[in-house]
Parts: sequence; C-alpha cells; structure tokens
Amino acid sequence: MENQDPTRLRSHRWYGPDSLRAFGHRSRARQSGLGESDFAGKPVVGILNTWTDLNSCHLHFKTTVEAIKRGVLQEGGLPMEIPVMSCGETLTKPTSMLYRNFLAMEAEEIIRANPVDTAVLLGGCDKSTPALLMGAISAGVPAIYVPSGPMIKGNWNGQVLGSGSDVWKYWDERRAGNLSEEEWREIEGGIARSPGHCMTMGTAATMTALAETMGFSIPGSSSVPAMDANHARLAAEAGRQAVRNAWQGPRPDELATRKAFENAVAVDMALGGSTNAIVHLLAMAGRSGVDLNLDDFDVISRQTPLLANLRPSGEFLMDDFYAAGGLRALLNQMGDLLHLDVATVNGNTLGENIEGCRVFNDEVIRSRDNPMAENGGTAVLRGNLAPDGAVIKHSAATPDLLQHTGPAVVFEDYNDLAKRIDDPALEVTADSVLVLRNAGPVGAPGMPEWGMLPIPRKLLEQGVRDMLRISDARMSGTSYGTCALHVAPESAAGGPLAAVRTGDAITLDFSGRRLQLEVEEVEIARRLAARQEPGSRYARGYTKLYIEHVTQADRGCDFDFLEGSAVTPDPEIY
Ligand code: FES
Repeated sequence: MENQDPTRLRSHRWYGPDSLRAFGHRSRARQSGLGESDFAGKPVVGILNTWTDLNSCHLHFKTTVEAIKRGVLQEGGLPMEIPVMSCGETLTKPTSMLYRNFLAMEAEEIIRANPVDTAVLLGGCDKSTPALLMGAISAGVPAIYVPSGPMIKGNWNGQVLGSGSDVWKYWDERRAGNLSEEEWREIEGGIARSPGHCMTMGTAATMTALAETMGFSIPGSSSVPAMDANHARLAAEAGRQAVRNAWQGPRPDELATRKAFENAVAVDMALGGSTNAIVHLLAMAGRSGVDLNLDDFDVISRQTPLLANLRPSGEFLMDDFYAAGGLRALLNQMGDLLHLDVATVNGNTLGENIEGCRVFNDEVIRSRDNPMAENGGTAVLRGNLAPDGAVIKHSAATPDLLQHTGPAVVFEDYNDLAKRIDDPALEVTADSVLVLRNAGPVGAPGMPEWGMLPIPRKLLEQGVRDMLRISDARMSGTSYGTCALHVAPESAAGGPLAAVRTGDAITLDFSGRRLQLEVEEVEIARRLAARQEPGSRYARGYTKLYIEHVTQADRGCDFDFLEGSAVTPDPEIY
C-alpha cells in the first residue's frame, strides 16, 4: 500500500494548512455542501468534461461523468467536474483545429490552477483527445483519458453507412446526378444514429486508440462503443484508478516516452489511421520533450503491416473491430512490433495489459501473415514542393495515381476553389493535379480539412472518382483518395506551393517518396521572390495569437511558446 499521508497530496496545499487561505478553501467546500469527511485528506480528481449541446459526439458524457464520480467515491476520492471547451468537429468554424491549442491551454491551466491530484480527461471527438493530452502532459499531474467510444453504425436502405466516408462518397454521386434529394435526406437521417465519435477509423478512433496504446486509458476502453454498458463500467474503473494514481502515479511524462510514441506511430500504421494523427503526435511529443519527427513515421510505416480492415482504408466499422477483439487484440497481434515494457495508467506494462487478448474475426483484424498491406497506411513525402515534408494516406489512395505526373490546376484559396471547381469551362482532365494553397496553419488559418479537394463535376459525370490532389491543408480521417497533404512549409509562409502555376507539371513518385514541381529551381526561386506577402485579416484576438505563434505541420502546429517540457511552477499558495 502506498503511503497515503494527506500531506503528499497536491490538494493538501489548498485544504490542509492552518492558514487564512486554506480557511477560505475549506469554507467554500462546505458551501458546496461537503462535510469534512467528504474532502479532508482525500485525493481530488478533476474530471475535465467536454460535454456540450454543441457536440453531438459527446452527448452521453452527462452520464459517463456520473460513472466516473461513482468510481472516485468508491475508492475514497473527491470528484470535481470541470467543464472545458469541447472542440466539436462538426459545428466549429473555420475548423476545430484552430481551437485544439486553445483547449490544450485551458486543460493545462485549469489543472494547474486548481487543487487537482489526478485529472480524468473526457474526450473523443477528433481534436479533444490530443488537446486534453497535450494539456495534461504540460500540467504534469497524473491523468487518465476516458474515450467517448464510437457511435453505432449508420444505416440507409439496408446499407451500412460509415461516418464521413459515405458522406463524401454519396455527395459525389449527388453532384454527378445519381442521387435524388429525397435519398440524400434519408442518408442525412441515417448516418449518425447515436452519441459517440465517428465509427470509421477517422481521427477520433485513431487518436483514442493511440491514447490507449500510450497507456493513458483503462485497457480496452477505446474500442468500446459509446452506447455499450461497458463504457460506463470502464469509466467507473477510470474513476477508481484515478484515486489510486493520485498516490502512486504515473505522471504523464512517465507515459509519454519515446518508446510510447514509437508504439503509437506503429499502431497508427497498423490501423490505417488518420493522417491527422501525425500532426497530433508531433505536437504531443513536442510537449513531452521527446524527439519525434516526420521521418520516424515513414521508417515505422515501412516496418509495420496494415492489419485493420476498417474504413476508409478497408471495409468494416468500429463496432466490428470491437467484436473482433478490439485494440488489445490488434496490439497482441502486433507483438514484437511494439515496446511491450512501457508503463500504463493501471500500473501494468502494455504487455501485461494485452496478454491473452485474442482476435475473434481475422477478416477485421488480419493476421501478420495475411495483412491488408505489407506497409503501414501513411507515408511521408519530400521533394522541392515539400522541403519540410508532406504526408499521404496511400492505403486509401488509387494505386495507379501513386506514380503520376500531370499538369497543375491551381486554386488560390478555398473560396477560389468553391467558385471554379464546378465551372464547365475549367480546363481540367482526369490527369490534372488539383492544387490548393493558403489552406495551412497560417494561411487558412487553422489548417482545415480541405485537402480532399472535390472532383470537378464535369469529371464526376464522366465517371472519374479520384485524382491527384495536393495542398497544405489536412483532410478528415474519414476521407480517401490520392491526396498529398500537410505540405510544409505552407504557401502562406513562403513555401514552394506558392510558386506553382496552372499548367506546371507535378510528379508524385510514391515509391521514391517524392513530390516534385517540374520547374527549374531558379524559376521557383524567382517566383517566390516576386511573391507578395499576404496581409492578415486578423488584427486582434485569439486568431491573431494563433497566426503569430502556430508552428508548421512538420512540428505539429502547436504554439511555439507551449512546446517543450520545462516545468511551469505551481501557483503560490499562501
Ligand atoms: Fe465528432 Fe467525427 S464528428 S468524431
């Protein structure tokens, strides 16, 4: 049994001393209806709840949080629910990515400023996971991540619908004139049928799986559907574990190690995970003082087979993944591709947590000798068009387009794209390379998910469903197609994407991991030198702060002043 001397608790400095300030803290605990036995000497578990009516993925958190509180009370702790920004994916404009760092700052500061001994982080919808983890890593107190779990499968006319992926697919059919308005509305009513995050292997499912892989979650919890009773059971267990961890740790820096990040990258590859995970893991590593870079992703991708047969790279959905054994079965399948000796929140090693976890359906979770693909789902590209790197989800691309040279059709920004993409006069063929610029962290701002550029309507009508597309944007983890993304440096920061002109030849040489503008280097330099600095529309406020401090995609788009693992002192308490 750990030494449970209350003076060891961080919260003791608020509630323990015989001082004027501590009197205030204790009297306000009593104002909350708490008696001495409720709070004196008890670990305080701060539950950061991202519930809001604005985020339909987190609607069940009102009951999840009650299960966590039950677990905290059972184990002798004091639960304190702390509402924080939700960073919901669907309603937040221009993009939730603009606010990932906002939530990360809020999480860090709210933990630090308050008597929190352990934080329980309640998230799921895309950016909420990396944001909460980034904040917790920087705050430095023990933290447990409780994932929302995926929503149930979509359904339309007896067909299974997958979040995002089927939206893009059927929107193309609608634009091609193959789907009526009535059918489109039926799909609208059938694609999101319960609370929970997207149930394809999009960014949410990827990041919750990686959080568990890195040891931040109760084993098995990331695969459990939001509406499954096991979600509440595991949430209660997270509450109990949080109380234990107030005494015994581990702290986030003991979990977010180089080995744990290598595991996360490998699992991302085996899952065919979202390209967004690359940006988020880089940002989390930047907070942890771990040296992780884009090349690590490419090296690990080449060593890791794609094992999960999940949309958008494969065929199945998260419910199938859970029934097939879930993440722990996949991790067990990966075996020697992982560092199994890393620590996790329940005090066991990762290897101990996955021991004996079996695969029940090897169509969904493939065996090592029958993978979906020999290599991981995402690769890193370089070349004169992306000197600091770009990424491509080749597992969801058209194989023929992975070695391709074609003439560029350049769109200056998203408005230009929206205006011209369906213009019958647009000079474009299936061989063209669609280029979107000013869509990066600074240019957009916030690096929205615009990277799966729409196929021009006139090509859709001819039956074209994929083209090579290049941008400094991201794309949804549920998207697919031959899209080179995250080009760095971005065009708004003077990257070579700013030099491309319509008609220039561009080559994607996937096997050589090259993205090349087939224009003389002196001409590229001349064009960039002649380029006019774009003015900023943001003279004040958060967006101004964002533009001035956001890093490029190859560094994770964190704020430069939030990177690093230097310890910020706890508040003075007197
Ligand atoms: Fe919330 Fe996809 S919209 S996870």
